[in-house]
Amino acid sequence: MSMVNAALVESFDEPPHFRSIPAPEAAPGQEVVDVLTVGVHPATRGIAAGKHYTSPTTLPALAGADAVVRRADGSLAYVMMLGAGTLAERIVIDPAATIPVPDGADPAVLAATMNPALSSWGALRTRVPFQAGQSILVHGATGNAGSMAVKVAKHLGAGRVIAAGRNRSRLEELTAEGADDIVALTHDQDATAAALAEAAANVDVVLDYVWGPPTELAMRAVLGARTEHTRLLDWVQIGGMGGDEITLSGHALRSNAFRILGSGFGSVDMQVMLREFTELVAAIAAGGMAVRPHPFPLEKVEQAWAHQDAPGERAVIVL
Ligand SMILES: NC(=O)c1ccc[n+]([C@@H]2O[C@H](COP(=O)([O-])OP(=O)(O)OC[C@H]3O[C@@H](n4cnc5c(N)ncnc54)[C@H](OP(=O)(O)O)[C@@H]3O)[C@@H](O)[C@H]2O)c1
Repeated sequence: MSMVNAALVESFDEPPHFRSIPAPEAAPGQEVVDVLTVGVHPATRGIAAGKHYTSPTTLPALAGADAVVRRADGSLAYVMMLGAGTLAERIVIDPAATIPVPDGADPAVLAATMNPALSSWGALRTRVPFQAGQSILVHGATGNAGSMAVKVAKHLGAGRVIAAGRNRSRLEELTAEGADDIVALTHDQDATAAALAEAAANVDVVLDYVWGPPTELAMRAVLGARTEHTRLLDWVQIGGMGGDEITLSGHALRSNAFRILGSGFGSVDMQVMLREFTELVAAIAAGGMAVRPHPFPLEKVEQAWAHQDAPGERAVIVL
């Protein structure tokens, strides 16, 4: 039997392990592809830990949620395989669900960048009626997805982008990367609320990577400071670094033209996503929007899982 190297989730309490598994075979309509790079994103870890809505229901299961692959015709493609796994030398894909990668694009950079970047691209292009010139608050801007949101918002024509986050030095860097204003999220709740109120009172969109109690504070601050109450505010829940739940007063929803919605897999039609992310891959390949890949070989998958990304970098498995 022909075998391939892979990373298997055998327990939700352990990192994936390097293993040899039977080589995949394509059913009619499918294609076997070579995997080049796989990103180790928060969602990738969450899936492997049994904590994501696409986590496998039976183990062992292939780890990995996305990949840059080489197709049978030699071309490169980006695939998202939430629930199916990507961390093997060869995997089976649905050719209709591939996103073409332009010649010359760096597979490791794409594997590091696509997941963080698509969070804001998907939100702004498919979930809210965003228009060029509008202003955006990125709540939790110092992680990879939040930092990419600053760049993506500018790329898509945002007039003013406010970056709010905890890491002061990363916030300063974001000023050089396109943020028009920064807000420090500190332990001093009054100071944080005052800074958010001053900088973001009349934003059109909030891209929220934090949620939980920090979002409760931010919502009160922004809504309480609004001077144009009927100006639509779309608050988009994208990540949950500060918690998975919030408490919200009905008054907040009645006193302003205020909508809360989420953006992620499951909230957008797959064909729409494929079209949008084809454009995003091209934008990343063109340069100027990149998360720095920190490469690990497949046999070091456990070290990759234990690795803590520095600001602006992402662990990537290179096969
Ligand atoms: N829905 C989607 O389509 C989608 C796609 C990609 C990612 N996401 C989600 O977005 C979130 C961030 O992903 P990522 O790739 O950016 O991860 P990351 O690079 O690991 O960044 C996470 C950052 O969150 C910040 N953070 C943590 N707790 C915080 C708090 N209480 N207040 C403010 N900031 C806080 C930390 O920055 P500091 O240490 O600098 O404060 C941390 O570096 C995750 O929940 C991820 O699952 C969603």
